[in-house]
Amino acid sequence: MTIFAKIIGTGGYLPPRIVSNDDLALELAQKGIETSDQWIVERTGIHQRHLADPGVRTSHLATHAARQALEDAGIAAQDLDLIVVATSTPDYVFPSTACLVQAELGNKGAAAYDVQAVCSGFVYALTTADAMIKAGRARNALVIGAEVFSSILDWNDRSTCVLFGDGAGAVVLQASDEPGILAAQLNADGSQMGILCAAGNVSHGQVVGDPFLRMDGQAVFKLAVTSLAASAHQVCEQAGIALSDITWLVPHQANVRIINFLGRKLGIPSEKVVITVDQHANTSAASVPLALNAARRDGRIRAGDLALLQGVGGGFTWGSVLVRC
Ligand code: ACO
Repeated sequence: MTIFAKIIGTGGYLPPRIVSNDDLALELAQKGIETSDQWIVERTGIHQRHLADPGVRTSHLATHAARQALEDAGIAAQDLDLIVVATSTPDYVFPSTACLVQAELGNKGAAAYDVQAVCSGFVYALTTADAMIKAGRARNALVIGAEVFSSILDWNDRSTCVLFGDGAGAVVLQASDEPGILAAQLNADGSQMGILCAAGNVSHGQVVGDPFLRMDGQAVFKLAVTSLAASAHQVCEQAGIALSDITWLVPHQANVRIINFLGRKLGIPSEKVVITVDQHANTSAASVPLALNAARRDGRIRAGDLALLQGVGGGFTWGSVLVRC
């Protein structure tokens, strides 16, 4: 009998502090940096972002989202045998954020580890959890994408700091004989690392290199659209499904223009595309599970729908997961 990994619950959490484009423009103006709501909306579609207060860490956001997903799934934390957290802003060098979340949830014994693939992190994490379930190595898995991305932004660089926000999204996967995750496709091209990176580290007690995110926006834009389009075709081919059969496209939420280009390239009408970047900005690894959770909770995504989840980001990394919800 084929074992599938089925999504049986979702959750999300956004820190309560909402910063609108106008709020941010005012804050930056005090430092002599010019930006505007009009520029941000025209280039990105972003209207606001949620930002964590100082001291709030990725594991805190992740734990909130996890609790909601567990409640939705109707299982207890102790029933989990796998916890995977996708993040590029872990609380510590070690232990992993997944272990911190495990302790907060009160689970003992589940395997727990982090996956680092920046904005593709959630699709990478979901794919590894799917493989563990299919191989019979886990039965109930918690997969979280969580970031305090504001902690790696250079708040003096207007070309990047206006683009991102903080948050967490989570899903609970369970082994099932009913179809759940149908196909997955992960890719990376490390030779493109320079177009999007935070090339710093802590060594011998000192920050070495540049601890802030740097990006060549136009190069990222082009590569994001071409790689996601190719990946969508590959994952559908793998599952023997036509792109026109997809009920919902849930892409990484970096920029409305990237999402619109992608939708047009794939011939997927805008009514079938979930967009949250306008409200959340780019929350990196949290963006896809937050969008999935939002669309499930507002009734757009229903049981039986076919959703194409897509991530793309630093590394350069990208990937797709095709899910029967
Ligand atoms: N406010 C006002 N002006 C700004 C701002 C700002 N926040 N940021 C940059 N500008 C100015 C620039 O200085 C430049 O001015 P100049 O012409 O006087 O030199 C002008 O706006 C145009 O700058 P560009 O960088 O050429 O602007 P572009 O049209 O490429 O838009 C953007 C920039 C939005 C980043 C775009 O390249 C983009 O969408 N890239 C995709 C990258 C992305 O979304 N990354 C998210 C993270 S990556 C990921 O998640 C996959």
